[in-house]
Amino acid sequence: MGHVYLTRPLGDVVEQFRQQLPGELRVHRTSGLPPTRQELLESVQGAEAIISLVTDRIDAEVLDAAGDQLKVVANVAVGYDNIDLDAAAERNVIVTNTPGVLDEAVADLTLALLLATTRRVAEGDRFIRTGTEWIWSPESYVGLDVSAGATLGILGLGRIGMAVAKRAQAFGMTIIATGRRAHHDDARSLGVSPASSIDELLETADIVSLHCPLTEDTKHLIGAEQLAAMKPGSYLINTARGPLVDEEALADVIDSGHLGGAGLDVHEFEPATNPRLRTMEQVVMLPHIGSAGDVTRDEMASLAFRNAIAVLNGEQPITPVG
Ligand code: DGY
Repeated sequence: MGHVYLTRPLGDVVEQFRQQLPGELRVHRTSGLPPTRQELLESVQGAEAIISLVTDRIDAEVLDAAGDQLKVVANVAVGYDNIDLDAAAERNVIVTNTPGVLDEAVADLTLALLLATTRRVAEGDRFIRTGTEWIWSPESYVGLDVSAGATLGILGLGRIGMAVAKRAQAFGMTIIATGRRAHHDDARSLGVSPASSIDELLETADIVSLHCPLTEDTKHLIGAEQLAAMKPGSYLINTARGPLVDEEALADVIDSGHLGGAGLDVHEFEPATNPRLRTMEQVVMLPHIGSAGDVTRDEMASLAFRNAIAVLNGEQPITPVG
C-alpha cells in the first residue's frame, strides 16, 4: 500500500482521519511553507493519494513522479486550476475538490471586501494609524452608499455567487448576474435578474464581483476593454482567481480615474502582488483569505480526506471534479 501525501499540516482535523486511511500519512512539515518543487517531486514518489492545496502545481511531471499506483489527487479547495486535469485523466487519476463547504465564508469575505472598498474602510484605517490629527468632517471618506440602490453585478453566478446575492439582497442592492443559474427560480427569489451579456453587466453595475473559475477561456476575462466598459466610478471585487483580471490594465484604469476602486483577495501572479495597485488608496488587497474561516477550513480538509479515503477504498468520491 502506498502512502498518502499531504502537502501542508492542516491542524487537528488530520488526526481524525489518520486512522481511517488505508496507508501511512506523510505530512509536509517544514516551516509552514508549501513543499518546494523538488520536495514535492520527491515526496509524492510511491503515493496512492496526494492531498494538495492551491499552492501546489500538480502537473504531468508530479503525476509521473508519483507513479502508476497514484489513484487520487484531493484538492483542499473548490478551485482546481492548480491541477492539470487532462494529465490526470490520461493517467486514470481521479481529481476531487471541495465545493459547497466554503460558499458562506467566501461570500462573507466578498461583502467585507466590497464594503471595505466602497466605504473606504481600509483607507480610513490606514489614515488613523498615521497618528495624524483629525476631526469629523462632512466631506471625509465619503464613499458609495451600497444600500441606496447600488447595483451589484455578479459575474459567474454559481454557489458562491448565490451566497453573495443572499447578502446583497439583505443590503437592498439591485442584483444582476451572468451564468446559467441566473435564470433559475432560486436566483429570482434572491432578487437576481439575469444580465443578457457580460457587456451589459459591466455597463450597468456599480460594483462588479467575480465568481467564475479560472480556465484558459476566463484568463484576463477582465482586461482593458472590459474595464473601459465598466460604469464610471464603479468598483471591481475579485475573490475568485487573480488571473481573471489583467492587473496592469486595472492599474491603468484606476490611475485614469475611470474606476472608483478595486477589492482584490486574489492576485494575478500570487503570491506576488502588483506594485502599482499596492500604492493606490482606492485598492484594498488581501492575502487570498476568502475561505479562511475556522469552521470552513476544517470542513474543506475533512471533505478532501473523505474524498481520498473513498477512492482508496474503491468507492466513488463525494465531489469529483468534472
Ligand atoms: C478555493 O477553495 O478555491 C480557495 O481559493 C482556496 O482558499
